[in-house]
Amino acid sequence: MRIKYTISLVFFVALVIIEKENNIISRVSDKLALKQTPQTPLQPSGLSHILPKHNASFTTLSKTNSAFSLIKRRLENYSQHKEVVTRGRKHILLLATTRTGSSFVGEFFNQQGNNMFFLFEPLWHVEKMLTLETGGTNATASAKAYRDVLQQLFLCDFSLLESFIEPLPVNHITTGLFRRESSSSLCQESVCSPVIKGVFERYRCRTRRCGPLNLTMASESCLQKEHRAIKSVRVRQLENLRPLAEDPRLDVKFIQLVRDPRAVLASRMVAFAAKYKNWKQWAIDGEVPIDDDEVRKLKGNCDNIRLSAEIGLRQPAWLRRRYMLVRYEDIARFPMRKATEMYRFAGIPFTPQVKSWILKNTQASKETSGVYSTQKNSSEQVEKWRFSLPFKIAQVVQKVCGPTLKLFGYKFVSSEEMLTDKSISLIEDKVFNFV
Ligand SMILES: *[C@@H]1O[C@H](CO)[C@@H](O)[C@H](O)[C@H]1NC(C)=O
Ligand SMILES: *[C@@H]1O[C@H](CO)[C@@H](O)[C@H](O)[C@H]1NC(C)=O
Ligand SMILES: *[C@@H]1O[C@H](CO)[C@@H](O)[C@H](O)[C@H]1NC(C)=O
Ligand SMILES: *[C@@H]1O[C@H](CO)[C@@H](O)[C@H](O)[C@H]1NC(C)=O
Ligand SMILES: *[C@@H]1O[C@H](CO)[C@@H](O)[C@H](O)[C@H]1NC(C)=O
Repeated sequence: MRIKYTISLVFFVALVIIEKENNIISRVSDKLALKQTPQTPLQPSGLSHILPKHNASFTTLSKTNSAFSLIKRRLENYSQHKEVVTRGRKHILLLATTRTGSSFVGEFFNQQGNNMFFLFEPLWHVEKMLTLETGGTNATASAKAYRDVLQQLFLCDFSLLESFIEPLPVNHITTGLFRRESSSSLCQESVCSPVIKGVFERYRCRTRRCGPLNLTMASESCLQKEHRAIKSVRVRQLENLRPLAEDPRLDVKFIQLVRDPRAVLASRMVAFAAKYKNWKQWAIDGEVPIDDDEVRKLKGNCDNIRLSAEIGLRQPAWLRRRYMLVRYEDIARFPMRKATEMYRFAGIPFTPQVKSWILKNTQASKETSGVYSTQKNSSEQVEKWRFSLPFKIAQVVQKVCGPTLKLFGYKFVSSEEMLTDKSISLIEDKVFNFV
């Protein structure tokens, strides 16, 4: 009798835990919860006592037993699931802004292998739709949408993201996912549906020919993977993602990637020529109207990046062991070392696949090897902007992004000569917090 009582109590607790898992379970649970009220105290008289006597559907012991064994099995599944979480499923969010090398760093995780589900810029769709519908002016609404979509995606749920994809997927099938081919997880055999003749194939995969993307298949594949990673250049404030860090279903690791704002501007002036035509004109004129909207925008961007980093480096309780700051310049100069550090921080194994991808993509070509070491080659790339950005523009960036440059250890230049003097490094050695 006593043993049975104990068992039923255990089940009761268990039922409360898994209440939301399933309707049947939740109905049973409600009945048990009712029996737990003070008016009907639970007596130590075995399983039969907790049966809802007035309800015909649960009067036979055999039915009750089968209900309990179902619960027990579900509970086993639940504890297995929990074990997977505690055994080390990680959710990596690579946060950056455009032209900071985030596609390159994203590959560190995209190349991890079969244990990783990687998504490349899923928030592109969210930004696009919010811009179309509201001009993208409501920062609060955007931040909430970004956060909610990221949270769902980390749980392999594509439904909210789907609502932002244009045209709206039909039966979870889409040809419109932004750069599907940049997520190797979306091009694996298990996510590759057959090619349909005559159907638009713009988003086919690099490695194999696939039909339109079936997001149900993507979700199933995601659930099978041990780790999940997302790269995004769209989150403005780290603080907005606090609910993700506090979600008990997730073990989120934020990696913030930053780069010298002067180099970012130089790179954007080339990559986004139309959008940056004012800056190009100012570069030619040698004059920058300091109160222009474009300059204010630059300052706003720098402030957002700095505020996020300040919170991260301060390590409040909700971010403890969850935040890492990485400079693009350090990755360019020491890719293997930085990648190893990032993997160690994330708490996942650094695979030979990642290692060989990094080797292949950072070493000087065969002809030049011996002449150019990896480091020398990459260092040159890192410093290139110093010869394309006029001193006048660099000065403006230093003026509006001063605190940001300082925080990340980028040296100010005081003259045209200093800017273009390669013997002077503009990158201070700086060690940020590491676990
Ligand atoms: C018994 O429980 C079932 C399932 O919850 C419910 O549909 C039914 O209405 C209940 N019957 C009585 C008599 O309460
Ligand atoms: C437990 O998990 C397995 C595998 O995921 C599934 O096939 C089975 O139906 C689950 N059992 C219950 C009772 O939910
Ligand atoms: C912005 O979005 C938030 C959250 O959806 C909403 O509460 C608020 O009213 C919106 N503000 C404006 C000015 O539309
Ligand atoms: C998409 O994938 C799911 C899961 O594999 C499958 O049940 C469904 O039939 C697929 N949809 C189409 C249209 O092929
Ligand atoms: C430096 O490395 C990049 C990337 O592998 C390569 O494209 C480039 O040609 C190299 N430059 C020099 C000078 O070796």
